[in-house]
Amino acid sequence: MKLMLIGFGVVGQGLVMILHDKADDLKTRYGFSPQVVGVATGSRGILYNANGLSLQKLLGAGQAGTLAHYPDEDGLERDFVDALDLIQNRDADVLVEVSPTNIRTAMPAMQHLQEAIATGKHIVTANKGPVAIGFKALLQQAKEANVHIRYESTLMAGTPAIATGLETLAGSTIQSARGIVNGTTNYILTEMENGLTYDDALSRAQQLGYAETDPTADVEGYDAAAKVLIMLNAFFGIEASLDDIDVMGITSITPEAILAATEANERYKLIASATPQGGQVKLVRLPLNDPLAHVKGATNALTFETDLMGDVTVMGAGAGQQETGLGLLADLLAIHRIVSV
Ligand code: HSE
Repeated sequence: MKLMLIGFGVVGQGLVMILHDKADDLKTRYGFSPQVVGVATGSRGILYNANGLSLQKLLGAGQAGTLAHYPDEDGLERDFVDALDLIQNRDADVLVEVSPTNIRTAMPAMQHLQEAIATGKHIVTANKGPVAIGFKALLQQAKEANVHIRYESTLMAGTPAIATGLETLAGSTIQSARGIVNGTTNYILTEMENGLTYDDALSRAQQLGYAETDPTADVEGYDAAAKVLIMLNAFFGIEASLDDIDVMGITSITPEAILAATEANERYKLIASATPQGGQVKLVRLPLNDPLAHVKGATNALTFETDLMGDVTVMGAGAGQQETGLGLLADLLAIHRIVSV
């Protein structure tokens, strides 16, 4: 399987690290030996080698902060105008979209995905924009072109939230999905309870690779709202926009408010919910007997209310480099299972 990565930040490098470290295991257990043939960044260079790029050299270039540090080798090409030029003019089996998310316009990721479909590439995306906005048309385009789109890592990183709702619970009817779906804000709320200031907790979340490139989307609740849109698309086939969703963030939270909640045996949590009637993101004080009150740090949890199974909850990492990388890998393996039979 030949992979083309659009974006090479925390998440893209996370995937390459896993592919590098687990190469033998992936080959032995799944007969999976992918090659990364192309990598495109917005301003830090573009690389393509039809024979496959060296994962180790890619990681070195990633650490150096620019693909210019990738050493020359036979077959290496660097002269591309932009990511679209690479997608349109070079081959790959799967396009992995890991460029920064824009949840208002979904661009330029949407264009990358449209071009990938037009050139017959399957899609694995960690980019939330195109799964939140304009997804129905994209899915239709993919269906007509016989191209697979997978997006596990757009919701709760590698914790199987999309797969649980769409595949594992297939046949039951999901009545609602409700939980904690943003790692950065949950981490900040947890660390503020431990005595950190809001600003220090946010800086740590950024250092740990939880936050978006622009963390405003996290702290103002719009990343969680994008995930509500993703859930509406995935689980209910409903297309909505950010304007349809009531959104709250955590920017107004104070140490005093956190303390007052603790003294009342309660915890602040940013709760997202999606139902066939719509969705919302709300900062609420949960009593300690609510299981969601005990979800800490960058951990996320999502409860599906279903007709045949009652409540089913998935809980696990909601952000992070290798955690999101694993979500991408799971999607690649799912495509590998289908296309290699
Ligand atoms: N910034 C996001 C979060 C990353 O904190 O949850 C995972 O989508």
